[in-house]
Amino acid sequence: VSGESRVNLALVGCGDVVHRSYLPALATARDKVRIAACCDPDPVRAEQTARACESWSAGVQAPQDLDAVLEDSQLSGIFNLAPAPAHETISQAALHAGLHVYSEKPLASTPEGALALAGLAAGRDRLLLCAPAIMAAPRFRWLKQVLETGQFGPATLAIGRYANLGPAALLGYQGDPSVHYSANVGPLIDQGVYVLHAMTGLLGEVRQIQALGAQAIPCRRVRYGPHASNNVAVEGCDHILLQLGFENGALAQVLSSFAVPASPGPALEVHTARASFILDDWQHANAPVDVYLDDQHGGGVQGWLRAANQGCEKAVVDDLVGVGALHFVAVMRGEEAPLLSSADACQVLQIVGAARRSIRDGITVELPSAPVPSPSARAAVRER
Ligand SMILES: NC(=O)c1ccc[n+]([C@@H]2O[C@H](COP(=O)([O-])OP(=O)(O)OC[C@H]3O[C@@H](n4cnc5c(N)ncnc54)[C@H](O)[C@@H]3O)[C@@H](O)[C@H]2O)c1
Repeated sequence: VSGESRVNLALVGCGDVVHRSYLPALATARDKVRIAACCDPDPVRAEQTARACESWSAGVQAPQDLDAVLEDSQLSGIFNLAPAPAHETISQAALHAGLHVYSEKPLASTPEGALALAGLAAGRDRLLLCAPAIMAAPRFRWLKQVLETGQFGPATLAIGRYANLGPAALLGYQGDPSVHYSANVGPLIDQGVYVLHAMTGLLGEVRQIQALGAQAIPCRRVRYGPHASNNVAVEGCDHILLQLGFENGALAQVLSSFAVPASPGPALEVHTARASFILDDWQHANAPVDVYLDDQHGGGVQGWLRAANQGCEKAVVDDLVGVGALHFVAVMRGEEAPLLSSADACQVLQIVGAARRSIRDGITVELPSAPVPSPSARAAVRER
């Protein structure tokens, strides 16, 4: 894709996240990207979304049918922003049509489905990138670099949490929250994946999983948006606790819950022998990283270094979801190397699958170091 021509992308699924995150982020890159179609089975949503971006995407279409999107020979790729259970089918159709794909999480409904998609993308030499955009956010890139210097020793322990009441209580949420409380989604797929992507991105591959789960609040009343006052039945666990063992010997604990009114503790702690790194706020790409140093050389240096990442570059948009959208555009244009690979998303789905088995059977699950198909990892993208 040349510097003059914009990359043509379609939005498949035009719900809450499109208006909350994707369009605001993509509008900042309007000189690089054009939205060719806003596709949604709900014609009102498709049309409203097309109207919201037509000032910088002339001629944007509003089809209800994915096939109409895939027939557009000018199209280079799609953002797959449908509800979680529909992701796999949509990505598969788009890859078969020769398109590049950025998928909201999860990549697929099962680890096997995710591996098949990764294989399809690799076989067709298409990009398949997957949210959440944790490892594309500057503070996580910074932390990875800092850990890789080895100056503080290797990371030996991580503690992470993503705990709230879920989308039924999310301020101003416009989507249908019931899908998030279904047996195949739940807190681990919807929010725990942020923690898991951070941990696997920073500490490497997970080999052992122990999990406990419980259902704490079986019925929810939707608070905002078009579904307000509806009751939602919680189908699976809404509290999930994980313990992870990494290949390199590091350990981690994760709290993933849709049944916690407030949890003000750190989003993520990463500990080495000589430093502790504390991160807050999963959704804010430019949030600070505090570091506690415990260096016993000479007279010793001990104490907190607040916002230790202040010198690192800032993301154009602070919204982590938007960072992922802009990363896909940049990779499509050959401006950035892909950081959100389907291989990472496959590994996270394997951990989620293992956690479910561990909860069900009361066992520790071992993950083999099975190779996942290498993602289509070209930085530059040829014309279709
Ligand atoms: N809303 C957020 O804040 C947020 C944040 C991060 C990630 N996400 C992820 O974004 C995705 C969408 O979430 P949302 O909150 O926008 O949900 P939503 O319910 O508001 O929107 C989903 C849209 O997809 C449409 N849709 C349903 N089936 C479809 C299909 N087969 N093809 C095309 N469109 C289809 C629906 O009509 C709806 O308009 C989910 O994977 C979610 O986990 C959402």
